Amino acid sequence: MTAPARILVTGGAGYIGAHCCKSLARAGIAPVTFDNLSRGHRDVVKWGPLEVGDLRDRGAVVRALIRHRIEAVIHFAALAYVGESMVRPTLYYDNNLDGMVSLLGAMAHVGVTQIVFSSSCATYGVPQSLPIDETTPQNPINPYGRTKLFCEWMLRDAAEAGDLRYVALRYFNAAGADPEGEIGERHTPETHLIPLALMAAYGTGPALRVFGTDYPTPDGTCIRDYIHVADLAQAHLRALRYLAEGGENLAANLGTGQGASVLEVIAAVERVTGRKVPVSFEARRPGDPAELVADPGLASVRLGFRAHHRDLDRMVADAAPWFAVSAKELQR
Ligand code: UFG
Repeated sequence: MTAPARILVTGGAGYIGAHCCKSLARAGIAPVTFDNLSRGHRDVVKWGPLEVGDLRDRGAVVRALIRHRIEAVIHFAALAYVGESMVRPTLYYDNNLDGMVSLLGAMAHVGVTQIVFSSSCATYGVPQSLPIDETTPQNPINPYGRTKLFCEWMLRDAAEAGDLRYVALRYFNAAGADPEGEIGERHTPETHLIPLALMAAYGTGPALRVFGTDYPTPDGTCIRDYIHVADLAQAHLRALRYLAEGGENLAANLGTGQGASVLEVIAAVERVTGRKVPVSFEARRPGDPAELVADPGLASVRLGFRAHHRDLDRMVADAAPWFAVSAKELQR
């Protein structure tokens, strides 16, 4: 299969972006990271050059596209905390929407016409039925999800105007870390379930707060579709090839089609670490749908993508080493 040789990866210093850069490099594709390092980390940019800049600086994006003779873009750069987006919505609209407008303007300016966009299952909100396929109405329930949906609309409009072709990938819950141990998950602050459960198990963080035990699910806790970050990275590679081969505009879910509850995740962390996860049971976290599970069929049919690392224990085991030591020790 063909693929463009030089890719701009916005947000390549972030968790999913960095894993994607590794996969690109492995496939002989040169990733150029464009990142303002506001949430990303310089030390995970290991597989190509880093251009430090803000997407909203259109001139800087244009210069990066020209300097590296970029043929296609993978766009990860965005603020991505649901909770923060509820408290600081304009920050999210400013960063995520203005960033997209600027990026699309820069691409049009230099004639780059292919883009893979990092979207989210958060665009669906609370689905009426499960599993969630791509015909499910998109009714996001928080500003983060709305920014991702508006970005999808921008892509659709630009594509209809003939300016570009795109693949929007709607991730479910990214999990795990590089199976070869070169990069891991590092968010500041950390809000995600698997990292927090691992930190609780290792004693490098407080007891895990289980948000809600009265959901209409078999064990009362929320169910999510966890997908290994290495699989997400592979899906981006397939999306690039799909566009290079002339594929039509596409929005597709990336999940495994299997759900796991919060209690099942805790059990997996206990199996993998051999340690108890101290927990406290708390009220529901606002904005959490009871169950989000993907129908992964479309990505399979159109991109030939299927998640390989489907075992929850595997995802937890790959993530675990990154949380076995405290952040303080990591900085030493
Ligand atoms: N949870 C806890 N305790 C915690 C953290 C999480 O019980 O300390 C629960 C949550 O209530 C939720 C599940 O664990 O039911 C997963 O929570 P995460 O915060 O790990 O992930 P989310 O499902 O909230 O969010 C993820 C991505 C978002 C994306 C969203 C789409 O991180 O970027 O899925 O729903 F928008």
